[in-house]
Amino acid sequence: MSKRLIVAIDGPAGAGKSTLARRVALRVGAVYIDTGAMYRAIALWAIRTGIPLDDSHRLEALAKNASIEFVAGNDRLLLNGEDVTEAIRTPEVASAASEVAAVAAVRRAMVDIQREIAARASVVMEGRDIGTVVFPDADVKIFLDANSEIRAQRRADELAEKKIPFDLDRLRQQIEERDSRDRNRAASPLLQAQDATYLDSSRLTPIEVEEEILRIIRTKTSNGKALVH
Ligand code: DC
Repeated sequence: MSKRLIVAIDGPAGAGKSTLARRVALRVGAVYIDTGAMYRAIALWAIRTGIPLDDSHRLEALAKNASIEFVAGNDRLLLNGEDVTEAIRTPEVASAASEVAAVAAVRRAMVDIQREIAARASVVMEGRDIGTVVFPDADVKIFLDANSEIRAQRRADELAEKKIPFDLDRLRQQIEERDSRDRNRAASPLLQAQDATYLDSSRLTPIEVEEEILRIIRTKTSNGKALVH
């Protein structure tokens, strides 16, 4: 059996990580994992059960007891058996996810699940700490960025497509608040790994970014040519 491949894609909200990670996973025959969805699921559960987002003890218990499963080609997320794929996409849950993700014990529980998944399959995993904390030895590390105007507009387009109401100015403000919290927290802050390749997607089409990531994968992996179609 060939060696498993781990591709880590980190970066701020709206940089295009989900779109790109999904496309690249298809091209290299790996499993796509959206780790932000996991923090969103914990946040949704906390909101529903009325746990304050600064109560780290109860959030830790919640994270340890949560059953989080990716199903159907990893496009659907089950929280305790319930399909929460759409429920976790609201701006309220996004904001709460960023608070929940600042709790070190919640992160430890999610990282355990992320490592278990990669122990069984090649993965393209996207998040904030994949190249720095979850897989410091990942075969390929990409830090995907874009300017904040473009990132807010991309989120707006996603919400419009899902028919979720939004206010563009409020959305931009929420993204900036979330980024600042993600970058400045003590536990695994959003940070470019030293050995990651920085890619600014602001002026690139998804196809151009995809080709660039595939080129980086080919360069970094000895068996990349066989993997990348
Ligand atoms: O990628 P996203 O917007 O769905 O992520 C939701 C929140 O989860 C985001 O504010 C930061 C946090 N997150 C994190 O701290 N670590 C990860 N690996 C993924 C997401």
